[in-house]
Amino acid sequence: MNVHDSEKIAALMEKSGYASVDDVGKADLIIINTCSIREKAAQKVYSQLGRLKEFKKRKPKLIIGVGGCLAQQWGVKFIERVPHLDLVFGTHNIHSLPDLITTVEKTRAPVVRTDFHERVKSLGILAPIQNGKVTAYVTIMQGCNNFCSYCVVPHLRGEEESRSLPEIVMEVEVLASRGVKEVTLLGQNVNSYGKSIGNGHDFADLLHEIGSIRGIERIRFTTSHPKDLSDGLLRCFSELDKLCEHIHLPVQTGSDRVLKMMNRCYTNADYCERVDKLRSICPGISITSDIIVGFPGEAEGDFQATIDMMGKIRFDNLFSFKYSERDGTAAADLGDKVSESVKNDRLRIVQALQEKYTLERNEAMIGNKEEILVEEISRNSKEDVAGRTRTNKIVNFRGGLEMIGKTVSVLITDAYQHSLRGRLPNVN
Ligand code: 5AD
Ligand code: SF4
Repeated sequence: MNVHDSEKIAALMEKSGYASVDDVGKADLIIINTCSIREKAAQKVYSQLGRLKEFKKRKPKLIIGVGGCLAQQWGVKFIERVPHLDLVFGTHNIHSLPDLITTVEKTRAPVVRTDFHERVKSLGILAPIQNGKVTAYVTIMQGCNNFCSYCVVPHLRGEEESRSLPEIVMEVEVLASRGVKEVTLLGQNVNSYGKSIGNGHDFADLLHEIGSIRGIERIRFTTSHPKDLSDGLLRCFSELDKLCEHIHLPVQTGSDRVLKMMNRCYTNADYCERVDKLRSICPGISITSDIIVGFPGEAEGDFQATIDMMGKIRFDNLFSFKYSERDGTAAADLGDKVSESVKNDRLRIVQALQEKYTLERNEAMIGNKEEILVEEISRNSKEDVAGRTRTNKIVNFRGGLEMIGKTVSVLITDAYQHSLRGRLPNVN
């Protein structure tokens, strides 16, 4: 999501006459798009800004701006903390960026804009379509109304707001006309797409509409909240050929007690029931998830429930995090914090276990013929191309530039932790 926001920022600035440079030292304008979902991401921004101080000394006309969640959270305090900063703009203010930069140029004084709007204008900004790019992101909604007790997103990105269906369809049609074959629909909780518009269109309708656009071969989406994973959406996996067999379905914990404290509104049994149903409707589906360890009050038994769930479900891949306390969230007020060393131990256990499961799931694909959409020359070898299976696994195999954008059948020969290797069935 943040990557896509950065693409939109770049598109806006290009329209205002800026061009990107490959060396920061040459830039006249540096915008850092920030995330504050966990403390670690926030710390990175401060150290990056610290390094930029030298650049500013050497080139006083350089403009340095900060956008995204951390900017929304800190507002004017950001300038107090980092005096060489020229501009702070919040999550609803991307569309104003060119004007804000003009103001900085004219006044040479710091500018801060973090107001929330009822309609988020930046939702409609189109990212540039990079030449030859086969895949693209499309924002379908922004904000979140769920208020999971640990999460800062609803506080910093505001209320859920969906883009209109015709606007999204138009964007995807443009992408298709420029050669894009695969779109990933983005939102904090895509399942509740349409609720903020109230015109009766839901996410399943949107998927069907996009499924009928010529040229688009694959559709993906992220992220889904388990509590809103309706039967209608599950059916899309069997009804829509273009919908890829992968779902990112963050579970967060296997403990019902902790799920309740997290305000997730489902139980371990509810989650497992959804997974069973997904797997019965779409047998080969790959399921990935997020887990937080060390939420306040997470006892040994709660952690064990997470481990047991992982063993039962065997996710294809998992993003696991240590709980990070965020100001303003409900969980920040909870007692019974888990120590850093216990968090570290638990994270290590989860990650080691998942490595085993990921490899198992990947190894089970050896011998399969998989449909691969070729995306690029492989990062590992110039003689290889890389693409992804419909289940979102990276596959490298012998091939050249002419294959980019093509969908081919590839025999899987080797499996690793982060990728697969294969060959075209008629090639040795
Ligand atoms: N601490 C740790 N992890 C968090 N996430 C969100 N907020 C926090 C937090 N305060 C994780 C969740 C979410 C993913 C995007 O980030 O697992 O699904
Ligand atoms: Fe955060 Fe929960 Fe919303 Fe996801 S659903 S963005 S975890 S509040």
